[in-house]
Amino acid sequence: METGLQDGRALSVFLDPEKVSFIRATTQIRQVPLAPNIELYSADEAVPLWQKTEQQLNTDHLPPPFWAFAWAGGQALARHILDHSDITCGKSVLDLASGSGLIAIAAMKAGAAQATAADIDPFAITAIMMNAAHNDVIVETMTDNLLVDATSRRWDVVLAGDIFYERDTAENAFRFLSAQALSGATVLIGDPGRTYLPKSNLLCVANYDVPVLRDIEDSDMKPTAVWRLSQR
Ligand SMILES: C[S@@+](CC[C@H](N)C(=O)[O-])C[C@H]1O[C@@H](n2cnc3c(N)ncnc32)[C@H](O)[C@@H]1O
Repeated sequence: METGLQDGRALSVFLDPEKVSFIRATTQIRQVPLAPNIELYSADEAVPLWQKTEQQLNTDHLPPPFWAFAWAGGQALARHILDHSDITCGKSVLDLASGSGLIAIAAMKAGAAQATAADIDPFAITAIMMNAAHNDVIVETMTDNLLVDATSRRWDVVLAGDIFYERDTAENAFRFLSAQALSGATVLIGDPGRTYLPKSNLLCVANYDVPVLRDIEDSDMKPTAVWRLSQR
C-alpha cells in the first residue's frame, strides 16, 4: 500500500509493492518533452524493459511496457488541453488507454473536476497512480475493458492518445468513442498518423511536432494531430 497526501486530502491507494519497486528500478522521472510541467516515470528503451518485465513476472505473455513512455498522441493531446483549459475545466474526463496517465494528469492540471484513467494493463495502473501522486493530482483508475464491456457511464470529455496502432483495438475504440460522442461527450483523439486511425467524422483541431524516442518511433520527431470526433 502507498499513501500520499495531496492538497491536504489523504489519498490511500493499494499498489502492488513489487510493481512499484520494479517501476522505480527500471525508469527515471523525466519531464514530458511537449508538456514539461508534467514529469513521468519513463524508460529510454522498450525492448530491454519488456524483457525485464517478463523475467520479473516469469511469463512471456505480457503486453509491451506502453506505460513507460509518453506517446506522441498522448503528448499532443496533453499539450492541447493544457493550452485550452476550457475543454476540461470543471468537467468529468476519461483518458481512454491511459498508459502512463499523462492525459488524465494534464486534464487535472487543466482544472478538470475529475479524471478517470482507464487501461487494461495492471502495470499501467500502478504507473498511473505513481505518476499522478508525483504530479500532485488525484486520478481515478479503471481496469475495465471499456472497448468490449458495455458501460452506462458517460463522461463530459473523452480523450484518447495513440490508440489506433492495432486493427481490433482501433475498431473497438472508435465504436466506443463514437457512442460517447453521440451521447454528448467532447471526444478528442491524439494521433501521429497510425495505420488504423479512421478517416471519417474527424476534424483536425491542432497539429504539433512531438519529440519522441528514436528507439520506439525510428525518428526524433513525430508530426501529430489532435482530432475532434463529430457528435453526429
Ligand atoms: C500506445 S499506448 C498510449 C498510452 C497513452 N495514451 C499515451 O498516449 O501516452 C496504448 C495504451 O492502450 C492500452 N490499451 C490497449 N487496449 C486497451 C483497452 N481495451 N482498454 C484500455 N486500454 C487499452 C495499452 O495498455 C497501452 O497502455
